[in-house]
Amino acid sequence: MEQEIVRKEPTPAPSASGSGATPVPITTIEAESTVRISTGIAEVDRVLGGGMVPNGYFLLGGDPGIGKSTLLLQIAAFVSRQGPVLYITAEESAAQTRIRAQRLGALPDQLYVMAEGNIRIIESVITSRSWQLVVVDSLQTVYDAEIESAPGSVGQVRGIAARLMKVAKTMCPIFLVGHVNKEGSMRPAA
Ligand SMILES: Nc1ncnc2c1ncn2[C@@H]1O[C@H](COP(=O)(O)OP(=O)(O)OP(=O)(O)O)[C@@H](O)[C@H]1O
Ligand SMILES: [Mg+2]
Repeated sequence: MEQEIVRKEPTPAPSASGSGATPVPITTIEAESTVRISTGIAEVDRVLGGGMVPNGYFLLGGDPGIGKSTLLLQIAAFVSRQGPVLYITAEESAAQTRIRAQRLGALPDQLYVMAEGNIRIIESVITSRSWQLVVVDSLQTVYDAEIESAPGSVGQVRGIAARLMKVAKTMCPIFLVGHVNKEGSMRPAA
């Protein structure tokens, strides 16, 4: 058993004045207008229901070494044809990512790489401009210095996932890598 301290953030007073908080009849919602962004890989598009929705938040889980980083780098390179894409790696160096991209034959100008694990810095970079897509590799290695537990712990993973979801909702689609442990779960090993 391990003690974990989770600091609670002050919550601003809720307001219903924003348009998002207004209930609307389901029949009046336009569903046809939802644009889908292709990942460039037909099978991934199919799994996503026809491609990524703008402001979508996607979690790609898989065993270690299964090819998560490679797949997302390919997707990032493809999507960057339409606009700037940010690939954030908290696991490898920017140089390692470049070597992989080179091997894949994918070195487009609009693909940006940042080797960073601090969520606060990541948030500020994502919100600094508009991105077509952001990839975060991985959920278990990004950390919040405000949370007093190690990266990958329950408190950290929960906090990081929630913060990135908020950014995705307001900024751009985010693809998140999640490691699956031996038990087949994405939760940190006990
Ligand atoms: N579709 C594929 N076919 C063959 N080899 C692949 C494929 N995708 C990735 N690989 C190779 O498998 C190895 C692991 O890939 P990658 O690093 O992308 O996996 P990962 O899931 O991100 O691993 P980790 O859990 O360590 O982050 C690399 O050597 C990569 O070149
Ligand atoms: Mg990887």
